[in-house]
Amino acid sequence: MTGDTAGVRGGHGLRSLGLAAQPPTYEALLDWWTYLREEQPVHYDEELGNWHVFRHEDVAAALADHRTFSSDMRDLIEQPEAFSKVAQGAFLGFDPPEHDVLRSLVSKVFTPRMIQELEERITGISDGLLDALGGARHVGFVERYAYPLPLTVIADILQIPVVDRARFRAWSDALFFQGRDGEPVLVATAEMLRSIDPLIAEMNAYFLDVIRSRRARPGPDLISRLATVEEGGQRLRDEEILGVCGFLLVAGHITTTMLLTSSVLLLHEHPRAAAALRADPSLTAGAVEEVMRHRGQLPAAARRTTREVVLRGRRLPKDSVVLLWLAAANRDPRVFPDPARFDIRRTPNRHLALGKGIHYCLGAPLARLELRVALAGLLRRWRHFTPGGEVTYEDPRHTIGAREIPLEVEWAAGGAG
Ligand code: HEM
Repeated sequence: MTGDTAGVRGGHGLRSLGLAAQPPTYEALLDWWTYLREEQPVHYDEELGNWHVFRHEDVAAALADHRTFSSDMRDLIEQPEAFSKVAQGAFLGFDPPEHDVLRSLVSKVFTPRMIQELEERITGISDGLLDALGGARHVGFVERYAYPLPLTVIADILQIPVVDRARFRAWSDALFFQGRDGEPVLVATAEMLRSIDPLIAEMNAYFLDVIRSRRARPGPDLISRLATVEEGGQRLRDEEILGVCGFLLVAGHITTTMLLTSSVLLLHEHPRAAAALRADPSLTAGAVEEVMRHRGQLPAAARRTTREVVLRGRRLPKDSVVLLWLAAANRDPRVFPDPARFDIRRTPNRHLALGKGIHYCLGAPLARLELRVALAGLLRRWRHFTPGGEVTYEDPRHTIGAREIPLEVEWAAGGAG
C-alpha cells in the first residue's frame, strides 16, 4: 500500500461511483476520492442513500457549520438499550448546547497541561514495550507495540487495573466498529448496533461499578475527577461519565494504534525521511502532522443536514446523511501541492485529520504526544525496520491503518535494552 501511484482513472477503473461498489482497499479508495473530488465533488450515493463531500474547502466549511451539519443522529437510528446508555456521554454525537456543556466539563479535567505531564510516563511505557521484545528480530508490530501503547496510556489515565485491560479490546473494537465490519456503510444501522449490545452492556456494568466506587473514594485519576468536576452548577451524571470513559477508550486507542502503523509503513517507504528524523529529532512534530495528513486514520466524519442545503449546485434535502471525507480533503491538490508526496517538512499543513470546529479532536495533544514519543523511541532503538511478511489492513472505509505488520528489526547498538 504505497498510495503514491494512485491517479485519476477517468472513471474506467471505477465499477460504479457508489462507495459500496469500491473494493475495500486503500488504493481503490484513493482512486475513488481522486476521481470524485474532481468530477463530482458533492456526490449522491444511490445505493447507500447518502451524500459524499470530497474537497478540502467544502469539508472544512461543513465541519465549521454545526448549525447546518449536525452531528446528532440519535433519532435517525434506533439505539438498543446498552448502546443508548453509553451514548449519553459520547458528546461527539451531540449538538450545542448539550455538546458544549459536556465538552466543557470534560475539558476542565482532560487538559493539555495534564497531557503534557504524561510525557515521562508515556516514554516509560514505550521503553517497557521495546525492552520486552528482548532484541527480537521478528516483531508483530501491532500486537507487541502499536496496540498496547495507547491502550496502556488510556487505561493509566483512567486508572484501570492491569488485569482488567484485556477486556478493553473487545469493548473498544465493538464501540469503534459498531458491527460494521466488512460492511461498506459509515453509519451503523440499528441491526448492527443490536449485534454489539451485549458487549456494550458488559462494559457499562464494569464502568458504572468503577464510577460508583471512585465517587465513594476519589483519587487523582480521570474518572474520580470527572465524578467531582463542576461548572456553573452543572455536574456529570454516572451515565455521562460512563459515556465519556467508553468514548475515550475508543477515541484514544484504535485511532492512535492505526496512526502508529501508518507511521512505521510510511517511514519504511521513505527511508530518507526516516534518516532525516534520526539526524534531526526536531523534525518529529512535522512528521506526525504529515502522517496524519497522508494517512489520517479516520477517513470520514458523518453529519446530518438540519435544512435543505445547496452545495456546488447539488440540492441536499433536510435530514440527509452526509459523509465528509477528511482523507480525501487531505489529498486535495488545491490546498496541498503534490498531495501524494510524503513530506515531513510540509508547511503549512492544514490537514483535517483531527476534524475542525466545535468537535475538533479533544485528544489531539495526547495523540500528538504519543506519536512523537513513539517515533523518537522507535527510531532511536531500531537502526532499520522493514515488513518481513504480509501486512494485513483494516477496512479503509472505516479506518486507515494496518491490522498487523510482521516487522524485521535491526536493533541499534544498545537499543535492545
Ligand atoms: C491519534 C489519532 C486521532 C485521530 C486521527 C482523531 C480524530 C478525531 C476526529 C476527526 C474527530 C472529530 C470527528 C467529527 O468531527 O465528527 C475527533 C474528535 C474527538 N477525539 Fe480524536 N482523534 C485521535 C485521537 C484521540 C485521542 C487520543 C483522544 C482522547 C483520548 C481523542 C478524543 C476525541 C474526542 C473526545 C473527540 C470529540 C470532540 C467533540 O465532539 O467535541 N481523540 N477525533
